[in-house]
Amino acid sequence: MNENLIDIYIMGEHHQVPDSLTILQALEYAGYRLTRGVGCRGGFCGACATVYRVNGDYHLKFALACQTKVEPNMQLAMIPFFPAHRPRYRLSELKGTAQEVLDIYPELLRCYGCNTCTKSCPQDIDVLGYVSALLRGELASAADISFDCIMCGLCVSRCPAELVKHHAALLCRRIYGSRLAPRSAHLNQRIAEIRAGKFKAELEQLKNMDRKRLQELYAAREVEPEE
Ligand code: SF4
Ligand code: SF4
Ligand code: FES
Repeated sequence: MNENLIDIYIMGEHHQVPDSLTILQALEYAGYRLTRGVGCRGGFCGACATVYRVNGDYHLKFALACQTKVEPNMQLAMIPFFPAHRPRYRLSELKGTAQEVLDIYPELLRCYGCNTCTKSCPQDIDVLGYVSALLRGELASAADISFDCIMCGLCVSRCPAELVKHHAALLCRRIYGSRLAPRSAHLNQRIAEIRAGKFKAELEQLKNMDRKRLQELYAAREVEPEE
């Protein structure tokens, strides 16, 4: 195989890797055995938060290692864990008000709107937008804007006010999902059907099916159209 090798630097150490690889694959190609900083490999879990810069450019960039291709002269460092403050609470003991989010995360009031968090987010989330919605007490809006957050913590690592807004947004989505979101009538109906055993025979058939046939059925499944 003809591979175009490029120079990259992992924690300051020089390596040559194929230019077709993602950062995550390049780390493994270079011999790193990752036990932290890797999870789904599909851009969903937020485990592979990475900070990099390209030689000759002082700008720091932020990415998910599993979703970003290497480029020549990258200086790479992974942040497999960020020790963000996380207050304890019991969702079942909360009333589900916007004020409770601010009571549990009062530091949100320190936000001075610099927007660094939004620029750091590898998911292109309007982070300042959801922080502002939390401050205005608009839980539905904050839950909606932060919906694609994968809890990578990059926005927290860059915040000059040290706000753990991804955790506050998670609390907001929990409150919204458990107390405020409209109930889904068809979901309740489907749960009742499952409990009544309507799909029992079909499930048994699937459980006994060989893997290849199961994969074929999965690939050919009907996917709900996007609204
Ligand atoms: S980086 Fe911190 S202080 Fe700046 S806008 Fe975001 S939350 Fe507010
Ligand atoms: S909002 Fe923050 S924690 Fe969530 S994906 Fe964006 S940078 Fe990561
Ligand atoms: S490994 Fe899960 S987002 Fe990259």
